[in-house]
Amino acid sequence: MVESKNENPRILAFVCNWCAYGATESAGVTEREYPPNIKMVRVMCSGRVERKLILNAIEEGIDGIIILACNIGNCHYMDGNKHAENRIKATSHLLGSLGVDKRRIKFQQIRASEGDKLGEILTDFSSEIRKIKK
Ligand code: FES
Repeated sequence: MVESKNENPRILAFVCNWCAYGATESAGVTEREYPPNIKMVRVMCSGRVERKLILNAIEEGIDGIIILACNIGNCHYMDGNKHAENRIKATSHLLGSLGVDKRRIKFQQIRASEGDKLGEILTDFSSEIRKIKK
């Protein structure tokens, strides 16, 4: 496992194209800032974020991973977000059994109009990961 030596935690945010990506645009319109150490990865659905992708990212030294999905019932691909939520829970459990802090992975639902909430979620997550890293 590669250790991240950066002072700022390295965080990946997988953002669903249909909701969370819209929230990033809403945040931009209202000039709501979020930490620059969070790199966005746009996906067509949170259900596309496979367990292997998460495990590889952790192994490569990513400190935190957040998956931002449509609200349950609003997934454009039926149940992609439900599958993602279950997958994240299982992956978190697996990482916990390997001695990795489970809080390093988070699943969050959000609407496209919630730019402010997005900024708050990402800021809080970055702060939590920073504490875990110390
Ligand atoms: Fe957004 Fe599935 S389309 S989570």
